[in-house]
Amino acid sequence: MIEIYTYSAAETEKFGKQIAGLLKRGDVIAFFGDLAAGKTTMIRGICRGLNIRQQVESPTYTLVNEYRSEIPVYHIDCYRESRLEEWLELGINDYFFGDGITLVEWAGTIEELIPESAYRIWLDHDLERENSRRIRLQADKTIEDVLAAEMSS
Ligand SMILES: Nc1ncnc2c1ncn2[C@@H]1O[C@H](COP(=O)(O)OP(=O)(O)OP(=O)(O)O)[C@@H](O)[C@H]1O
Ligand SMILES: [Mg+2]
Repeated sequence: MIEIYTYSAAETEKFGKQIAGLLKRGDVIAFFGDLAAGKTTMIRGICRGLNIRQQVESPTYTLVNEYRSEIPVYHIDCYRESRLEEWLELGINDYFFGDGITLVEWAGTIEELIPESAYRIWLDHDLERENSRRIRLQADKTIEDVLAAEMSS
């Protein structure tokens, strides 16, 4: 588990960018955290790191945004749809077990469907400081080691 604190949206986005280079086809990242915790902000950073220039916002009219990149990126938001059977019907397992990168906001809503192998990121507000967030990340050991080394340098 990696833990960092950021003090602005730009810093959270930058942390996302740092992670981008460590991702590969088939990776799934599940994001947990309240409203305005910074999930979309961090996903935007990951997408920028993957050289995606398209607008990165939570999917609204559709439930999944697809971004073009060397590796396709699927941006899923489970805030408004919590029915597991709806997600299954939509083919969520094709995203999870396909060869793109899948980023899921409000992952707790569909916890049962999140693959065991997914990386997990928790974002929390700092009660004392408006623009501060605690970010915790659970990934595989290689990714955690690389990030830890980058953070300490
Ligand atoms: N350290 C920080 N990291 C991320 N966002 C921050 C930070 N400080 C302030 N903010 C602000 O908090 C908001 C985060 O919004 P964002 O859409 O990323 O959250 P979210 O977790 O996706 O919310 P939602 O649950 O509504 O989808 C933005 O307005 C951003 O500018
Ligand atoms: Mg969001």
